[in-house]
Amino acid sequence: MDKLTLIRPDDWHLHVRNGEILQHVINHTARQFARAIIMPNLKPPVTTVKQALAYRQEILAALAPDSNFTPLMTLYLTDNTRIADIEAVAQSEHVVALKLYPAGATTNSDAGVSAFENIYPVLEAMQKQDVPLLVHGEVTASEYDIFDRERLFVEQQLSVLTEKFPDLRIVLEHVTTEEAVRFVETASSHVAATITPQHLLFNRNAILAGGIRPHYYCLPVLKREKHRLALLKAATSGNPKFFLGTDSAPHPTRLKENNCGCAGCYSAHAAIELYAEAFAQANALDKLEGFASLHGPDFYRLPRNQERITLSRESWRVPGHYGQGSLQITPLKAGEEMLWKVL
Ligand code: DOR
Ligand code: ZN
Repeated sequence: MDKLTLIRPDDWHLHVRNGEILQHVINHTARQFARAIIMPNLKPPVTTVKQALAYRQEILAALAPDSNFTPLMTLYLTDNTRIADIEAVAQSEHVVALKLYPAGATTNSDAGVSAFENIYPVLEAMQKQDVPLLVHGEVTASEYDIFDRERLFVEQQLSVLTEKFPDLRIVLEHVTTEEAVRFVETASSHVAATITPQHLLFNRNAILAGGIRPHYYCLPVLKREKHRLALLKAATSGNPKFFLGTDSAPHPTRLKENNCGCAGCYSAHAAIELYAEAFAQANALDKLEGFASLHGPDFYRLPRNQERITLSRESWRVPGHYGQGSLQITPLKAGEEMLWKVL
């Protein structure tokens, strides 16, 4: 198969930031995807519908003039989120979900939820109004090993949430372990998961073997090969609970190549091509359309896209960086060969 035509995909987990960097990254996404779920972890975080609508306008203004791209907005859950905020989301055409960051779990998560009990009334309202909850699934206490944080979150916290709120629609974002995959597979149809390209293509050796490579560092961190294989199996299984979410997270090169480098892989420059590479490795290109273009809108109860895109088996080289100076971003697979190209 040298050409692959798909219904235009959507990205169900994306960071585009705001200000100047937004202009540089949003059109990479809009080249491939019709829609994307926009993460709210700005400084300060997006916590109200009013702020989300202003952020949406900023994104629309940054798009190329001929773009049809639709940003799907989210709010950042805090200990202070009110029931009225949930009602406003339920009524909004443009804000579709809330994102839960355990406080301290990742980039700009300081304002996140400090204990789930604090937000039970809000989760109750989300369940009632049928507003999806998007979860960064890692425990945060410093005594926990970084490679165990997702597994422990699933065991200790997610299981409690799904039991307590059985009708709440939950997306466990960027799953990285076989335990998370198993949890999602066996949970009710209200529970789904996104998977990033880096977690399908690489294991933790990519960060640490033969030298330290900060551009492969993201959270949840890459895991062992057995976990990568479990993710690849889930993504290519045709199971509608698993869908595409890049977690593309731009940080300036100088803040990644640093004594304390930021977490996040930038993949928007080649996202669907990276997924095609992973699916081709698993001999499962026939399953890419479901994962990339069908399962996401079905879970979010949004219409499937009508347009199509075509990928061709064609090699090209990823640039060493995009942008200049303080806006320079080093993409995933910088300087390396890609095997698929969007036409
Ligand atoms: O690696 C990550 N980067 N993981 C996250 O959860 C957040 C993201 C970011 O915003 O940079
Ligand atoms: Zn993210």
